[in-house]
Amino acid sequence: MDSKVALITGGSRGIGLEIAKVFAQCGADVVIFSRKEESLKRACDVIKESAPNVNVSYQVGNAGDPDLPFEVVESVVSEFAKIDILVNNAATNPHFGPTLSITPEQMDKILKVNVAGVMRWTQAAWEHCWKDNIHKGSVVNIASIGGISVGGGIGFYNVSKAAVIHLTKQLASEMGPMVRVNAISPGLVKTDMARTLWENYGDQLAEKLPARRIGETSDIAKAAVFLASSMSEWVTGTNLVVDGGSLLV
Ligand SMILES: NC(=O)c1ccc[n+]([C@@H]2O[C@H](COP(=O)([O-])OP(=O)(O)OC[C@H]3O[C@@H](n4cnc5c(N)ncnc54)[C@H](OP(=O)(O)O)[C@@H]3O)[C@@H](O)[C@H]2O)c1
Repeated sequence: MDSKVALITGGSRGIGLEIAKVFAQCGADVVIFSRKEESLKRACDVIKESAPNVNVSYQVGNAGDPDLPFEVVESVVSEFAKIDILVNNAATNPHFGPTLSITPEQMDKILKVNVAGVMRWTQAAWEHCWKDNIHKGSVVNIASIGGISVGGGIGFYNVSKAAVIHLTKQLASEMGPMVRVNAISPGLVKTDMARTLWENYGDQLAEKLPARRIGETSDIAKAAVFLASSMSEWVTGTNLVVDGGSLLV
């Protein structure tokens, strides 16, 4: 990934931070984006420590803001001259419980960040970098196995992830041949977002899984390296499930 430029939304912690760290260790310059500047600064230090020879920077904002992606992408392109890799990783889930109990505000937030956000960041990268067919691009959307299965508690979030998987295929069909678009669907991974799930049910679930453990952020980062790099140059429109076999049990 030497001399590649990667923009990662939700890159200040969890899966996004690990992806940024591994991309940087593989030689890419990385720009991370999330809402909290303090976390972003800390994340940049962590990335720089593990990959001192690449450029690491951050931009602050809400991934669900419809106009901000265009400003951020424009400034990244003016600083680095291009974007090779866009990882749409930021997502939110303000509702837990029976799907029928979700409010309009909660649905709105989920759709704005998780679905429209993916669309706007991709449109921005297309507009400011890829539409002239000069630079190759790779978009990696972080979906979820919830997008291809039915389960309790986070039903509408799962609907948003099903939309991300479909959007991935749709955009892949429209953005080739210079831009590839793929998704990763993680199973349960030890991060803040899924803390309630893995703290309460992690051991139980791990016992049942063919892999006998729940996911680490590095499991997802390795898949992201594959999909973002030329190792997967004939792969587009796919949804790579990385779940330790969760869908089998
Ligand atoms: N963990 C799992 O088990 C699991 C399973 C399947 C899929 N996923 C997916 O994996 C991705 C990463 O999740 P994670 O588990 O790593 O979550 P996490 O640890 O909670 O990290 C979320 C990241 O996104 C940022 N973020 C959240 N809302 C944002 C917003 N509206 N605008 C900008 N940045 C925002 C957070 O930073 P700030 O708070 O500073 O904004 C943080 O950097 C998500 O797409 C999630 O749906 C996770």
